[in-house]
Amino acid sequence: MAAPRKIIIDTDPGQDDAVAILLALGSPDEIDLLGIVAVAGNVPLALTEKNSRIICELAERTDIPVYAGCDAPIRRKLVTAEHVHGKTGLDGPKLPEPTMPLQDQHGVDFIIETLRNAPAGTVTLVPIGPLTNIAVAFNRAPDIIGRVQEVVLMGGAYFEVGNITPAAEFNIYVDPEAADIVFKSGVKITVMPLDVTHKALTSARWIADIKALDTNVGHLVASWTDFFERFDIEKYGSQGAPLHDPCTIAYLINPDLFQGRFINVEIETQSELTLGMTVADWWGVTNRVPNAMFMGSVDDKGFFDLLTDRLARL
Ligand code: BDR
Ligand code: CA
Repeated sequence: MAAPRKIIIDTDPGQDDAVAILLALGSPDEIDLLGIVAVAGNVPLALTEKNSRIICELAERTDIPVYAGCDAPIRRKLVTAEHVHGKTGLDGPKLPEPTMPLQDQHGVDFIIETLRNAPAGTVTLVPIGPLTNIAVAFNRAPDIIGRVQEVVLMGGAYFEVGNITPAAEFNIYVDPEAADIVFKSGVKITVMPLDVTHKALTSARWIADIKALDTNVGHLVASWTDFFERFDIEKYGSQGAPLHDPCTIAYLINPDLFQGRFINVEIETQSELTLGMTVADWWGVTNRVPNAMFMGSVDDKGFFDLLTDRLARL
């Protein structure tokens, strides 16, 4: 069996971020989580770093170092998403204050140092919030770009277009300049856009399965899902809620669950109307050089079976 993949999760929890982290922690044969870096996104940084620690404590993994990264996008005012995730970012059942410490080192320095110290091509970055920390790290230390094994991110959309504006997905919209830096960097990129995540919808049957685990993690994941499901069902008229961020980790565990195309993806940074749009050349109508594996579909049954199996281990 191959050695587990070394990853850094860059995140703004967020209930779906929390499930992504739990999926990683439940999969030690495939995933070696080197650390978690929080970024401002769904809620401000003070909450995303705190939520990251709450999640580690829930999984009884206080050995995972948690860092605070950037507290604002590179050039813009922070846009948050309390309307989806609640005031704390992890609304649902009340959670205990974390007691594990936040690391002193800045999250961007942790990313740079980790990539410099590990053999080239052995560390994967998994951003599931705005791309601020990754872009700042690439700008500050361009030597690390060639050392990244892969960036597997949740963000963007093509056929599904947008969720925070009619044209843009939240993570890209919050810091389009950062996304532009990452997509132009030449790093190997795999994208889980809304086109995929809107097909990874929770169902009553899956929530029942998760509750039936009868563990702390199971009950909490079920309650979180109940909480943000209401928003999505009302907004999209969908059957359940999209589990956006866990798609990245599921891809690392079993890439065969996803199908997509290696295409050119550019980020709109100028237009007020379409700011943060991922202009994805899905149909190959330009000669622009492909720079990202842009996923389009998921085996949703396989995805939810994997989640149940791995959450059951926590
Ligand atoms: C993305 O935005 C956030 O609200 C979610 O956590 C996810 O990363 C979906 O657009
Ligand atoms: Ca997120």
